Amino acid sequence: MSSRGLILGIESSCDETAAAVVQRGARTLSSVVASQIATHARYGGVVPELASREHLRAIVPVVRAALSEAHVTLADLDAIAVTSGPGLAGALLVGITYAKALAFAQGLPLIAVNHLEGHIHAVLLEERQKQLAELPPPGRHPERSQAESKACPELVEGDPGFDQTQSAPDTEPALALVVSGGHTHLYLAQPKDSTWHYRLIGRTLDDAAGEAYDKVAKLLGLGYPGGPWIDSLARFGDPKAVPFAFSQIKTKVHLGGDAPRTKAAKTAPIANLDPHFLFSFSGIKTAVLRYVELHGLRGEAHARVTKMLTLARPPQTREDALALCPQQTLDLIASFQHAVVGDLMKKTFAAAESLGATRILITGGVAANRELRARFTAEATRRHIRVAFPTPALSTDNAAMIAAAGWPRFQSGEFATSDLSAEPALALGR
Ligand code: KG4
Ligand code: ZN
Repeated sequence: MSSRGLILGIESSCDETAAAVVQRGARTLSSVVASQIATHARYGGVVPELASREHLRAIVPVVRAALSEAHVTLADLDAIAVTSGPGLAGALLVGITYAKALAFAQGLPLIAVNHLEGHIHAVLLEERQKQLAELPPPGRHPERSQAESKACPELVEGDPGFDQTQSAPDTEPALALVVSGGHTHLYLAQPKDSTWHYRLIGRTLDDAAGEAYDKVAKLLGLGYPGGPWIDSLARFGDPKAVPFAFSQIKTKVHLGGDAPRTKAAKTAPIANLDPHFLFSFSGIKTAVLRYVELHGLRGEAHARVTKMLTLARPPQTREDALALCPQQTLDLIASFQHAVVGDLMKKTFAAAESLGATRILITGGVAANRELRARFTAEATRRHIRVAFPTPALSTDNAAMIAAAGWPRFQSGEFATSDLSAEPALALGR
């Protein structure tokens, strides 16, 4: 009898404790995320020690909730997949240690997943899920009653799609942009022999795009994380008001071709990368700061910190946006976002063209951004390239993507050994 292909995913690399049960890398039976935003918000960023403590508190209830929502028990699982890096060492260790203990106690194989690979699989998981939805629904299986199949969304052997996820794996390479609070990396993802191979095509030399969102939001007195606030407020400003520019990056002589020292994973020397696909977001943050100082916006940004305490979520109407920020600040926010999205687009499409990629996957927290989605989609249509994003819930950190990325490794028997440990600077691809 073949296994049900149930993988429990566990993610704890940064400030979300997450667990999910995914079947055959294609069907999410549950996805539970406990966010620590409230804990870190008052510090304006993630505090590593607090993150580890919160993960310790949340890991057991979150895993229990994921199993219970999926209507499975530990005994039903086929494997446990856990994020092994990159991320915060203490935070990663909580997930890894718990996953190891569970796997050992249940006699299950343990699969180590790179967080960045997880983000890429968030898109692939949803694409497969969409394909399955187009097939006749599960429950046509003669041995299952209608009621039974309604209660359990899981695929069983004989259901249309059960074998499809095995027999029709993705075959097309994709250019993937992972754009989050820690990364802005371009990869060529290629499926081969039932696993995926990744080649690093480009990366940021300093701040990640999400980091720029968070820092700009902080200096404007907006909430943490900054992305959703800037996303909402940008709609009410003039994106052309402040002409921010990104200049062509030259591989700096002082880096000597070495991997840059950023928060992100260490990678191969940047000298091996085409400078057209290198990003740098620390300059725009400084440019915003200069604009704020030059135009006397410091005071009003400071005053906003108090106003923010009364707001639970970003403004949705122009009236509410103007009650929070003067038009000049809204214009600054819109211009910042317009420039960042423009730079991400320019380099991603240039890389796709140079590699002959016909498919782009955009993932990571910043992929939830509305302007980014709209402009990438329009440009992709113009260029006859397919572009895919995860739904907003799967754009930010979650464990469904970790369980999905674990499935090809499960199929090829790539299991972690008992000495698996956290790798805070784990790189993806060469
Ligand atoms: O992937 P993620 O949850 O965690 C990391 O692996 O970093 O990404 C978090 C980042 C934060 O910097 C946050 O500000 C940004 O994603 N973000 C957004 C949006 N939602 C989250 N950035 C722009 N627009 C958004 N709607
Ligand atoms: Zn992430």
